[in-house]
Amino acid sequence: MSAVVVSAETEFALGAARSEALARLTDGLDARGLAWLAGYFAARAEIGAPAPISAPTVAPTLLIVSGSQTGNARRVAVALAADAERQGYAVRHVHAGDLKLKDLAKERLAYFVISTQGDGDPPEEARGFIDGLLGARAPRLPELRFAVLALGDSSYPRFCAIGRAVDARLAELGAERVLDLGEADVDIERVAAPWRDAALLLAKTWLTPAPVSNVTTLKPRVAAVTRDAPRAIELIENQRITTRSALKDVRHLVFDLDGSGIHYQPGDSLGVWPINPVAHVDALLAASRADGTAVVEHGGAAHSLRDWLTREREITRLAKPVVAALAERSAHVAEWLAAPNLPERLRGTQLAELLAQFDVRVDGAWLVAHLLPLAPRLYSISSSALAVGSEVHLTVAVDPRGAASRFLADSVAGSPVRAYVETNPRFHLPGDDTDLIMIGPGTGVAPFRAFVQERAERGARGRNWLFFGEQHFASQFLYQAEWLDALKRGHLARLDVAFSRDQAERVYVQHRLSERAQDIYAWLEGGASIYVCGDATRMAPDVDRALRAAIESARGRGDADDYVAALVEDGRYRRDVY
Ligand SMILES: Cc1cc2nc3c(=O)[nH]c(=O)nc-3n(C[C@H](O)[C@H](O)[C@H](O)COP(=O)(O)OP(=O)(O)OC[C@H]3O[C@@H](n4cnc5c(N)ncnc54)[C@H](O)[C@@H]3O)c2cc1C
Ligand SMILES: Cc1cc2nc3c(=O)[nH]c(=O)nc-3n(C[C@H](O)[C@H](O)[C@H](O)COP(=O)(O)O)c2cc1C
Repeated sequence: MSAVVVSAETEFALGAARSEALARLTDGLDARGLAWLAGYFAARAEIGAPAPISAPTVAPTLLIVSGSQTGNARRVAVALAADAERQGYAVRHVHAGDLKLKDLAKERLAYFVISTQGDGDPPEEARGFIDGLLGARAPRLPELRFAVLALGDSSYPRFCAIGRAVDARLAELGAERVLDLGEADVDIERVAAPWRDAALLLAKTWLTPAPVSNVTTLKPRVAAVTRDAPRAIELIENQRITTRSALKDVRHLVFDLDGSGIHYQPGDSLGVWPINPVAHVDALLAASRADGTAVVEHGGAAHSLRDWLTREREITRLAKPVVAALAERSAHVAEWLAAPNLPERLRGTQLAELLAQFDVRVDGAWLVAHLLPLAPRLYSISSSALAVGSEVHLTVAVDPRGAASRFLADSVAGSPVRAYVETNPRFHLPGDDTDLIMIGPGTGVAPFRAFVQERAERGARGRNWLFFGEQHFASQFLYQAEWLDALKRGHLARLDVAFSRDQAERVYVQHRLSERAQDIYAWLEGGASIYVCGDATRMAPDVDRALRAAIESARGRGDADDYVAALVEDGRYRRDVY
């Protein structure tokens, strides 16, 4: 936790260190914190001599573990930790990747907030922890009490699979479940908020909170830019970087961050709050036959239904709870919902289409009651601040049926876009001397543009090897000129490309990886790290398989899984896939 907790026991040295200590103590305090300190010193002055330093009683700590891929579980865990701190609990929040199983055995009370990714897989940062927990060598946990909040999306067949597995396994290892598993769907807070309240109420049974008057959480003076407090930044360039004839429309977008208070590192993502494109809102209003001028009360203000749909609700992504509500009105929709291939159906359909297909009418009140809140979309940052100063660059593939990518593509220079940085420490660069293998087909190349820029600016000695893939060389070789220039200058040591549709046989990055097995292995043996970014559904598993096969063929031994597990454990095999 970055929050600082100052209790009445706070003591600091007098004499020469006094002013330095005072500066340290007050740095970052807001008005409330300063007022609290003033009161504290006034009380001390009244008592006279410095109060004796009382040894703080060591209260057991509430451990909060988050396992997150796109920041939701982390955000819920941070909110839980902040609530717990406010109530006087000693709290430690760790990311699952930083938690050792043997340390868990020493804890008294641990709350887990964890999402499910891929096809029922753990978030990247929790992979090692989950493997250990579910594995045969996991320690018994008889001293531990626990509760799990699982985050997921009921459109996926393996809803909340990882949270469920963690919950069941902890109980199996002898830990005591203090609260039933919470399963949060896309409308996370509906389940997360009451779960947090219940969990904190229960914590009192085992932990003794400090008196609340003794605890103050000090906030930094400059308000942080976060998902829920984004900044409007100006779009200054919107350039298509695939040819007009290309099937995919990919944009290079440049924003001005000057004065925004937004800072980033290569590997981070930019969260963008979209405004739903007019065509999508028109389609929904037409299909539902709801009155776009009807008034909706939201956030203490009155909006037209049209405006509210445009700015506040998800209308492009079809979530299962929305269809379930519609199924109560239409037997046809209920039938549609019961189909075995529901996940694909949901992904391929929009609410407007479903309404039109089954001729179902819904009014404004129904839309208000059932549509989910609009959520921001994440985009890997494709620039290094060392190279581009106060700009941030994105590389966005446009989905004409989507919300954010279409909103961005339709935005012209000068438009404001509400954004924030979702930091992703697990995908930050390794040390400057480390060789780096980067596998980033399609827009997966975005963070690697940032990496190469950053390493060039820093004069990093580690070599860079990029694997890039797309459909066609002539129309979709993203940032071709930059890569060729980087090769010429030595900022890229190697570049391997796979253009899948330029020949009769389909060729992808994983095929290039297999062809270079000996060299990949030699780089890894020399300490290289391997980073993968892009498509989670097919590319990342295919690359993973190819990597294991390459290692096995180069080693001539069947222990590639152990080798890869060690790479993951050492933080040398990292993925940011979506
Ligand atoms: C960490 C991270 C980094 C990313 N980096 C990049 C990047 O660098 N470049 C890039 O182009 N993209 C990136 N993405 C993907 C990006 O966040 C968006 O998902 C993508 O742009 C589509 O968003 P959209 O709002 O345009 O479309 P959406 O409105 O999300 O719709 C997408 C399409 O899916 C259909 N759909 C229907 N139901 C559903 C459903 N339940 N769930 C999802 N889709 C549904 C929609 O109708 C539509 O056709 C990244 C994602 C993550 C998580
Ligand atoms: C590529 C991808 C795969 C997902 N797979 C699943 C899944 O199999 N089961 C599930 O319940 N949720 C799945 N989800 C939904 C996430 O769990 C959900 O969005 C969650 O809020 C993400 O939390 P996080 O940001 O902390 O990772 C998936 C999401 C993405 C982007």
